[in-house]
Amino acid sequence: MADNRPIGVFDSGLGGLTVLKELEKVLPGESFVYFGDTGRVPYGSRSNDTIISYARQDEKFLLSKDVKYIVAACGTVSAVAASTAKELPVNFMGVVENSVKAAVSATKNNKIGVIGTSATINNGAHKKQILELLPNAEVVTVDCPLFVPLVEQGFSAEDIIVEEVARRYLLPMVEAGVDTLILGCTHYPILSAAIRKIMGENVTLINMGNSTALAVKEELAKLDMLSENTASSREFYVSDLTTGFSKVSEILLGEKISNVNLVDINKYD
Ligand code: DGL
Repeated sequence: MADNRPIGVFDSGLGGLTVLKELEKVLPGESFVYFGDTGRVPYGSRSNDTIISYARQDEKFLLSKDVKYIVAACGTVSAVAASTAKELPVNFMGVVENSVKAAVSATKNNKIGVIGTSATINNGAHKKQILELLPNAEVVTVDCPLFVPLVEQGFSAEDIIVEEVARRYLLPMVEAGVDTLILGCTHYPILSAAIRKIMGENVTLINMGNSTALAVKEELAKLDMLSENTASSREFYVSDLTTGFSKVSEILLGEKISNVNLVDINKYD
């Protein structure tokens, strides 16, 4: 039985739009409801308890929109709050699991790097999952807290400041000789040219949006829940209409967003 209900996608803010972009590429017939918690972003510097309680509210909001599936399009939520999936009446996918699988199949020298927010890196979910699949892997992890504000302030991957910050963060990866690097945060694909410049052409960069979108498609197909709609739709909801909304969403999605709805996320407790 096909299921024409939308897929719910949420993020701490607008970074998840990079994941939505990949989902729409891979699942062109599906409709999407996107929630960005712009009023409480960033999650990446918060405690685990706070991230878990925010994720629960975000998921409750999406369920109120009758979604058939939930994607946590946020590296931090996926690393810290994946346990909330057990409480959900619909299937759930985060962005850690499939980026780990993609990295493990890409590496040739078993040296894998992971970059993300401080909460993601401190949580260690990627490292743990990599070692479960590849026990002799060497995993190098670095948190890159300046990358998110650089993207949100409109710095491009070609900017010399971005290149210098990337050099500082990524030097341990280069020195360790990693051949595969997981971009473990939603904003990082926007900076991939700068990251590639430091890491070199031969290092495989794993875009978690792409690996997750392919896995969502596979799971929906297996569950016979792909949509039969010929036209897709998308709805956008945020918890605050921040001043930078229009500019930042365009950087992350690659196009302007119209019709954004405001949500009082604290009502979803
Ligand atoms: N969306 C977050 C992530 O992927 C980055 C922004 C934040 O810190 O909330 O980890």
